[in-house]
Amino acid sequence: MPGSTTTAALERAVHRYRQAPLLARWLVHGRAFLADLARIEQYVPRHGFIVDLGCGHGLFANLLMESSPQRRVLGVDLDPRKVEVARATVGDREGLRFEVEDIVAVPPPRCDAVTIVDVLYLMPPDDQERVLRNAAGALAEGAPLLVKSQEARIDPRYGLTYAQEVVAVSLGLTRGVRRRFHFPAREEALAMFQRAGFRAEVIEMPRRPYTDVLYLARKAPATQ
Ligand SMILES: C[S@@+](CC[C@H](N)C(=O)[O-])C[C@H]1O[C@@H](n2cnc3c(N)ncnc32)[C@H](O)[C@@H]1O
Repeated sequence: MPGSTTTAALERAVHRYRQAPLLARWLVHGRAFLADLARIEQYVPRHGFIVDLGCGHGLFANLLMESSPQRRVLGVDLDPRKVEVARATVGDREGLRFEVEDIVAVPPPRCDAVTIVDVLYLMPPDDQERVLRNAAGALAEGAPLLVKSQEARIDPRYGLTYAQEVVAVSLGLTRGVRRRFHFPAREEALAMFQRAGFRAEVIEMPRRPYTDVLYLARKAPATQ
């Protein structure tokens, strides 16, 4: 469970959006309330250069910065409108920046950890694997890749997961979508991590009303 320090960091991160347009502010508050970002943050290294792929408005990147001043963070997203909102939160912090980039086409720079929060389901499976391979290329052996995702399973909460995303996309709140969502089942996800060069373990997120899981993956040693 996130402690009070992490919760305070999330509040400070949200406060960074006080001048943002109303819709963006509303969405950021929604993410802060619904996405359990403070829990995910606790698995991210406290030092070093972190790249957040599909950063959206940059709330998680801001949380990473607010939780530990020893981090440097780059957030990358396809949507220039979101990146503009994210950039407006940076102020004079030199360790935080945001770029518009397609994370399927462009690998992240060399870094100490990669995070991906609620992004991969928007891409077909081949592209998801490409993003993981890109991340593997940026990390040293043993370095972490954290992927927060929802999994396909027979569970009423999976219906809620899917329905919420349909609404978000129909309202134009999430971009990068083709025709449908691609939530892998757990075995499919673990096999994909392995093919991409990671050893992954699953961390359950049972407090959430969706079928959320956190994959804590580490770059595997190169095979001979
Ligand atoms: C549901 S939002 C999550 C945003 C953020 N990670 C968060 O937790 O608040 C998914 C994000 O993935 C981004 N995205 C989708 N496909 C992408 C791609 N190919 N390259 C970069 N970003 C992408 C979307 O623009 C969107 O901002």
